[in-house]
Amino acid sequence: MPADQAPFPATRFRRLRRSPALRALVSEARLTPADLIWPVFVRDGRGERDAVPSMPGVERLSIDLVVEAAREAAALGIPAICLFPYTDPSKRTEGCEEAWNPDNLSNAATRAIKDAVPDIAVMTDVALDPYNANGHDGLVRDGVILNDESVAALVRMALAQAEAGADILGPSDMMDGRIGAMRAALEEGGHTGTAIMSYSAKYASAFYGPFRDAVGASGALTGDKKTYQMDPANGDEALRLIERDLSEGADMVMVKPGMPYLDICRRAKDAFGVPTYAYQVSGEYAMLRGAADHGWLDGERVMMESLMAFRRAGCDGILTYFAPEAARLLNG
Ligand code: PBG
Repeated sequence: MPADQAPFPATRFRRLRRSPALRALVSEARLTPADLIWPVFVRDGRGERDAVPSMPGVERLSIDLVVEAAREAAALGIPAICLFPYTDPSKRTEGCEEAWNPDNLSNAATRAIKDAVPDIAVMTDVALDPYNANGHDGLVRDGVILNDESVAALVRMALAQAEAGADILGPSDMMDGRIGAMRAALEEGGHTGTAIMSYSAKYASAFYGPFRDAVGASGALTGDKKTYQMDPANGDEALRLIERDLSEGADMVMVKPGMPYLDICRRAKDAFGVPTYAYQVSGEYAMLRGAADHGWLDGERVMMESLMAFRRAGCDGILTYFAPEAARLLNG
């Protein structure tokens, strides 16, 4: 801050807030559709869509409709779509084999989108929970979430996603050493152009509740994820994790959830200056949408204010279920 700022009345901050034109001239952060990544839920079938009750306005879509969504996103100027599969319970096993099936829902959707809408970037989720009989992101033995064995499984999963044509892999599992292992396997496998957006600072959060309903993991999950996801009390650890993931070959880093962790976004951007993203997660969406649907908040305004807050906090982009709605507003 300049120490020589003139005292009142020489300085009157309200001079530059007098009109929309003056406010536009001095606004510091910008939000455009290019800053948004749209997470979508994929289900089986054709022409099928079903509502996610805890996320009003969000639906699980069959692949043909996901392709339509990708087309819509591209037309709105949204550069990337992020896929989350709802896997049939019969395909959830202790070994999570469906995770690296080249034809699983996520991989089939990736191929369909890259075929039909080549201009949009496809991001995928690397974690075992949609395929795991016990709902955890890693393999479990005797109640313990295994690290190194899980990393080996995640590498197979990542390779299958790269093979299917994913542009950005999003490891959301929080196992140690996974970024290095995936990066080495990608290079080895000739996937030198596949980017990794690491969910580096992912907290053990109750704000993921509606997402777990959407992918059908809530019922399956035994216990919690506190032995691998972060303690909400910690900030310094987030920076160490981000530094570690960058050193192992992450191209982009993410903080998750978003709104309760904007301090981490700012610290990360200031410390490393790398492409930094936040995930405005399902519970944040549900909170704003639920209040808006009850008439307690102005839905459009809180949506835009919350997204601008991420930009002000230093984020290069935001994963948000509001992406199409926000883009439509931004495009006028
Ligand atoms: C699973 C995963 C989760 C989310 C993204 N990937 C849930 C979890 O860790 O339990 C949450 C996204 C959201 O809440 O919107 N690895």
